[in-house]
Amino acid sequence: MIDDVLKPIHGGTDSGPPPRYDFSTNANGLGPNPHALRAIQQADPSRYPDPLYTATHAALACHHGVAPEQVAVGGGTSELIHRLTRLRYLRGPMLILPPTFSEYARAAQPAELPLLKAEDGSQFLRLLPQATLAFLCVPNNPTGEVYDFLFEAAEIADQRQVVLVLDLAYYALCQNPPPLPPTAWRLYSPNKAHGLTGVRAGYLVAPQDLTYFRHIAPSWVLGVHGEAFLRAALEPPSQAWLAETRQRLWQLRAELAQGLRALGLEVQESPANFLLVRVGQATQVALALRARGLRVRDCTSFGLPEWLRLSAQVPEAQQALLEALAEVL
Ligand SMILES: Cc1ncc(COP(=O)(O)O)c(C=O)c1O
Repeated sequence: MIDDVLKPIHGGTDSGPPPRYDFSTNANGLGPNPHALRAIQQADPSRYPDPLYTATHAALACHHGVAPEQVAVGGGTSELIHRLTRLRYLRGPMLILPPTFSEYARAAQPAELPLLKAEDGSQFLRLLPQATLAFLCVPNNPTGEVYDFLFEAAEIADQRQVVLVLDLAYYALCQNPPPLPPTAWRLYSPNKAHGLTGVRAGYLVAPQDLTYFRHIAPSWVLGVHGEAFLRAALEPPSQAWLAETRQRLWQLRAELAQGLRALGLEVQESPANFLLVRVGQATQVALALRARGLRVRDCTSFGLPEWLRLSAQVPEAQQALLEALAEVL
């Protein structure tokens, strides 16, 4: 029997026809980044990538100022999260702080890791010594929270030999990003910030040698398109595009929040490109919006059945959403 947690539970994507406007993923709504897209299109799919990803690991290591052995690429950070649960020395309790990205709990299940769920930040710190692996999402998906205890958590993790993983999927889209403790492990998903989530490529940076971690992945876990993307995302034209678009996204997020508040709705803004809005029965509202060609993220699976998560989109999309919401509500 398939346990609930093993079902595909990403509320954003569905199998229906492509929506007119998609607010459900937190990918950069002004993407795709044209420089990175060109690099992907120029990749040669008639050959295998380098199975050791030598040049890509070196480029990522240089970008982050670490040794190449401290970097491991993967088929998206989802794959890396699952791979972490297969490290022999991490096969103990996993600690998370819900509501948060579902893939941590989803990875704990098939790996048969006991799951500890903290109710708040102080309980997270108290439970940390009992875990072997702990995840914090910065800023958190879906709440947008940026925890003020990252350094404290990293210090406890360090002392008690817990691997603390910071999931930085939306960090590059964050206004005033918080400083990160250097001893934490870091997961990067540049496909979000560059609006290319169909490219399955992410990477892990750790304060230790990841050679063994690299070897527990299937061979060629990342295709040539993913490899081309990760390298192109580091290049100056991509970084300039990102710097420009994120400014615009923050402005669009603020405009969307203002429009939603004008409808009398409670809004919780993240410092990145997304926000939460309280609509009452989120599943019904999401279905009614979907029928009008608008896809939104129903937060019921996060344990927030009254909330939708919306990402900033171009003004015409945001206008369409506000009008549809006014009708549906
Ligand atoms: C917080 C967070 N981390 C990681 C991921 C996975 O990203 P990917 O597997 O595309 O790298 C997502 C995707 O939605 C996410 O929201």
